[in-house]
Amino acid sequence: MKRAIVPGTFDPITCGHMDIIERAAAHSDEIIVGVAESPDKGEGPLFTTAERVALIEDAVEHLAHVTVKPFATLLVDFAEEEGATVIVKGLRAVTDFEREFQMAALNWRLDKTIETMFIMAIPEYMYLSSSAVKEIAAHDGSVKGLVPRGVEEALALKLGAP
Ligand code: PNS
Repeated sequence: MKRAIVPGTFDPITCGHMDIIERAAAHSDEIIVGVAESPDKGEGPLFTTAERVALIEDAVEHLAHVTVKPFATLLVDFAEEEGATVIVKGLRAVTDFEREFQMAALNWRLDKTIETMFIMAIPEYMYLSSSAVKEIAAHDGSVKGLVPRGVEEALALKLGAP
């Protein structure tokens, strides 16, 4: 792949996201992690856009050809602006499939020059989500090994997790 977008809400980034970004980076010349400013689901994010961008930047520091950018437009428009023709998303359990299938189909309908590709989550991260991480942290559980170190600290500051 040449230039690919790995989009998401990343509220916050997890080790599952990191695994997808690293595996996508291994097969692309350049990866842009696109951070959606206003998620289309549920309540607002726990972390601001600037905080989510900073946490990802810190976590991907070791990956030379990965950059992080916020976006507030349609994903296909963001991809077009960035000169990317591929959207890479992670796929976990079957529960992800319907939503991802819908988004991929609609994005294809909006712009047929942009292809969505999926990377299967490894079993270890199959059931990991940002929501679960926030719930564990909010109830004082340990999120060690589930999120990058910087996120652990940020969650502790925000929610008072150990
Ligand atoms: O972290 P998520 O929930 O998997 O990310 C969803 C995201 C941000 C990729 C999706 O909501 C998105 O693409 N938002 C941008 C707006 C858009 O293009 N919507 C149409 C897609 S159907």
